[in-house]
Amino acid sequence: MIVGIIGSGGREHAICCKIKESSKTSKIFCIPGNAGTSNIAENINLNINDFKSIKDFCLKNEVELLIIGPEQPLVDGIVDYFTDTKIKVFGPNKIASQLEGSKIFTKKICKKYNIPTANFEIFENIDDTIEFLSNAEYPMVIKADGLAAGKGVYICKNYNDSLVAAKEIFGGKFGDAKNLLVEEFLAGEEMSYFIICDGKNYKFIGTAQDHKRIGEGDTGKNTGGMGCYSPSRLFSPELEKKINTKIIEPTLKAIKELGTIYRGFLYVGLMIKDQNPYLVEFNVRMGDPECQTILPLLNDDLVEIFINCCLGKLTKEKIILSEKKSICIVLCSKGYPDNFKRNVSIKGLNNLLLKKNEYIFHAGTKFENNKILASGGRVLNFVSVSNNFKTSREDLIKIIGDLKWDNGFFRRDIGYKVIDL
Ligand code: AMP
Ligand code: GLY
Repeated sequence: MIVGIIGSGGREHAICCKIKESSKTSKIFCIPGNAGTSNIAENINLNINDFKSIKDFCLKNEVELLIIGPEQPLVDGIVDYFTDTKIKVFGPNKIASQLEGSKIFTKKICKKYNIPTANFEIFENIDDTIEFLSNAEYPMVIKADGLAAGKGVYICKNYNDSLVAAKEIFGGKFGDAKNLLVEEFLAGEEMSYFIICDGKNYKFIGTAQDHKRIGEGDTGKNTGGMGCYSPSRLFSPELEKKINTKIIEPTLKAIKELGTIYRGFLYVGLMIKDQNPYLVEFNVRMGDPECQTILPLLNDDLVEIFINCCLGKLTKEKIILSEKKSICIVLCSKGYPDNFKRNVSIKGLNNLLLKKNEYIFHAGTKFENNKILASGGRVLNFVSVSNNFKTSREDLIKIIGDLKWDNGFFRRDIGYKVIDL
């Protein structure tokens, strides 16, 4: 089978590697891909928002299964754009993708279906917002509606913080994200919970904890994710049951009552407080870097899972995941998440000695003139699977040290909640 993957991050490289393992796969196209995917797939340099070119390419090259990695094309309706073809497209349609595309859409579903989440108010103009903020309790959270590349959330300690947030959001900082959500601050510990859904059936596909902040000890600016580990230390069968019955099943019912279905990965961002789950956000895709830690634990054929999902036949009892532990450290370009140099060469990557349980997934890299260049903020993902988070992390730090890449930095404390006890 000829498989296409849309995206260019660590998530897509990890998906590519897993798809390559399947006996069903004859060829992989990655659109546009990175230096890592170019080793196992053919990279095709198309804009991921140019649906027409992607469709023409897939039809011409007989792509049978197309996997959509990132959220933007899903929210913009790429799945709907392919419904007049026979190509199996893995991902939710435009309506269902609103679960990530609009925080207000999701909050309204939470209210209607009694899904546990932070209390909230919706505002459409600055005057009403300011009036509310002046009498509000702090800390509180302000969020821009719409996609904001993970940057539209403000944790506000006082009135002044909230005023800055409101002014930035209504001032157009997040483009299309025009309305604003004020949320109660939830104290607790975060966990990311993943399912894969075929429109009727859904299956558990792992948990993880992400480290989103740039600095050690979870301090400083928010990033796309500096590293993570799987499984989450909070996971238990009792919690799983609560998440399924109180959050996932009502959400799938809500999507069905909108006259459609949910098909694809669903990333459930949770706050766990007193053993109870509260929904913080949905993402309509795999997490990045969570995907890079979870897929190496998958002891199942991912292509078969994707096809069964597209056919509405994800009926096997459960997806088989290893009992082992997986940890990922992200190597970033100095300066990220602000300004950083692009096209800096990374030498010696292919000389690194990796054990069977160690992986390097590329993110912001490209292959040009026989060189691997760092082209993005998050550059490489170093992953290790073992029975012990601590030794895995030590091994990864050693590998990164061996690379001696002067322009890189990373967090040495990934997984500290499960390691440095
Ligand atoms: P989101 O993009 O909605 O996931 O928010 C980004 C991050 O902000 C989350 O991962 C949490 O760490 C934090 N956050 C979001 N909403 C809340 C909330 N209501 N209470 C506390 N922290 C929150
Ligand atoms: N790692 C967070 C995300 O993928 O949204």
